[in-house]
Amino acid sequence: MRIIVCGMGVVGQSFLKLLLASYTTLYKNYGIKPRVVACVDSKGITYSPTGLDLKKVLAIKEKSGSLLEYAGYKLNSRNYIEEIDAEVFLELTPTNLSNAEPGLSHIISALRSKKNVITVNKGPLALSFSSLIELADYNNVMFRFSGTVGGGTPVLEFAKHCLKGDKITSFTGILNGTTNYILTRMSDGLPFDEALRDAKEKGYAEANPSLDIEGDDAAAKLVIMANWIMGYKVTLRDVDKTGITNINPDEFSRAASSGKSIKLIAKCDKKELYVKPIPISKDDPIYVNGTLNAVTFRSEHSGEQTIIGKGAGGMETASSILRDLIEIKQNMTNYQLN
Ligand code: HSE
Repeated sequence: MRIIVCGMGVVGQSFLKLLLASYTTLYKNYGIKPRVVACVDSKGITYSPTGLDLKKVLAIKEKSGSLLEYAGYKLNSRNYIEEIDAEVFLELTPTNLSNAEPGLSHIISALRSKKNVITVNKGPLALSFSSLIELADYNNVMFRFSGTVGGGTPVLEFAKHCLKGDKITSFTGILNGTTNYILTRMSDGLPFDEALRDAKEKGYAEANPSLDIEGDDAAAKLVIMANWIMGYKVTLRDVDKTGITNINPDEFSRAASSGKSIKLIAKCDKKELYVKPIPISKDDPIYVNGTLNAVTFRSEHSGEQTIIGKGAGGMETASSILRDLIEIKQNMTNYQLN
């Protein structure tokens, strides 16, 4: 299985490490022999049709940061996405919620050149969900995005595949790991700026952390869930959003006196979508701390279920890419058998 990895930040590098650690299992359990034929960062592309040496790519990234040092065949074509032969294109560039670029153009080129696409980039899905799903269908390729919500926690898969025959009527959750980490530290008395610095150092925050603290990242995830799980056709403009930058530290002690703490809550109920900081009871199943995410789904017949797991982190998010890769391989195999 030939793979192009576009975006070599925390998630891209974690994915390469995970591939190196999973080669035997991937072949033994799923019949996958992954071959990364190209890696792309903001400075250039390194390419080898027989597969790159991932240890070398990682060493170069850790040392100097630029892939142009890789002594391989370097492609400088602007149309590399169309020109390179590969089964899967990974779009892992940073989220941009203004115009979704460059991720949106990358995904469109990959789908048009009939490559299956996996992304953890929320911008293209938050801004152009329906058209990307249609483009993938039209080109008869798979488009997967498990890591856009919940980091490594299979929130989208749970809602989409584990409640077959039932109907989810609403859901409420904590969808951003960085703000949950900051709010947890603030409730222990740490000032906002220090908590944010800590979250950035630990690699939880977006390349542009204002997306986390202003609530945009949680709103983007809410939009992806509403479209994919509930079948809505909504965009970021439909979300009533408030971030965590104006929380007064006194609010934590007021909430604590009634057994609560402030959490950034995202809710989707009867087409009403909001993200805002509100006091949550410590007995509520979605009350989780640190970088954990939690979502309670309410269904017509099976009642309420809550899924909890780490919502941010390079290796956690890389694990969702691996799940998507396995699903793509299994679907390709089923298609060939039929
Ligand atoms: N910055 C995001 C978060 C990363 O903190 O939840 C995972 O989407």
